[in-house]
Amino acid sequence: MTEVLVSKGLEKCFSSPGRATGQRIKAVTDFNLVIEAEEIICIVGPSGCGKSTFLDMVAGFTEPTSGLLEIMGEEIHRPSPDRGVVFQQPVLFPWLSVYDNVVLGPKSRGVKPGDYRPEADRVLKSVGLEKFRDHYPYQLSGGMKQRAQIARVLVAGPKLILMDEPFGALDAQMRINMHELLISVWQEYKPTILFITHDVEEALFLANRVIVMSQHPGTIARIYDIPFERPRTYAITADPRFAEARAEIVELLRAKPEART
Ligand SMILES: Nc1ncnc2c1ncn2[C@@H]1O[C@H](COP(=O)(O)OP(=O)(O)OP(=O)(O)O)[C@@H](O)[C@H]1O
Ligand SMILES: [Mg+2]
Repeated sequence: MTEVLVSKGLEKCFSSPGRATGQRIKAVTDFNLVIEAEEIICIVGPSGCGKSTFLDMVAGFTEPTSGLLEIMGEEIHRPSPDRGVVFQQPVLFPWLSVYDNVVLGPKSRGVKPGDYRPEADRVLKSVGLEKFRDHYPYQLSGGMKQRAQIARVLVAGPKLILMDEPFGALDAQMRINMHELLISVWQEYKPTILFITHDVEEALFLANRVIVMSQHPGTIARIYDIPFERPRTYAITADPRFAEARAEIVELLRAKPEART
């Protein structure tokens, strides 16, 4: 298996406003994780435990304080289209159509339209937006905007897709639709995905492995292998193994740090 992301002894400290000069908060510490090609890894953890800080380092938005962080064997120092990010609040330019938003990356890198158009057409179809390609973001629902973000990321052929609570702002039914869409996109493109969520069910439904983080210090408390076959349907939520894993993770998230193993 190809190792897509390697994090070894990763640490991120921030200087802490309001504390004595020189005092720093360890947002992430001793974070060791290898993500293999085609995995969907979900990270859950209490608010403020360092989930977004880890994702931001992988995205290249912020540098680690120490430790190793590599994508396909190369150290990460800056953002790149090889790590496409899907944010909770869709980042789409309001004055561009869906199609123009989706192809903005390759277009701005000087790729010829003839070279990106077939892939753009394919991803728009995969996310169910082919009939909305000429619409503008204000004409789309929240779920459709997230589909457009996913299409924008996919068109670059990323090594890793980073998603930070991407469906957190959607209503329950729309979230289910988006889970099914993400699974079908995964079936078609087999991307490697790092997905952050507060929602344990969402993590169990999507992931090959669920990483549970602990707070203070922000590190990995436990890793669960999720055994369900793909393609998955919502029927797995009724499986006793699903309920058991959910109960265990919820308990782990509620536990005081000293109670964790
Ligand atoms: N730029 C920054 N400067 C100082 N402290 C920061 C900065 N970014 C994050 N932190 C701190 O690092 C810790 C982890 O924050 P982070 O945003 O990674 O948490 P999170 O797990 O994503 O939380 P949530 O679930 O609420 O999104 C928090 O204590 C936060 O206050
Ligand atoms: Mg966060």
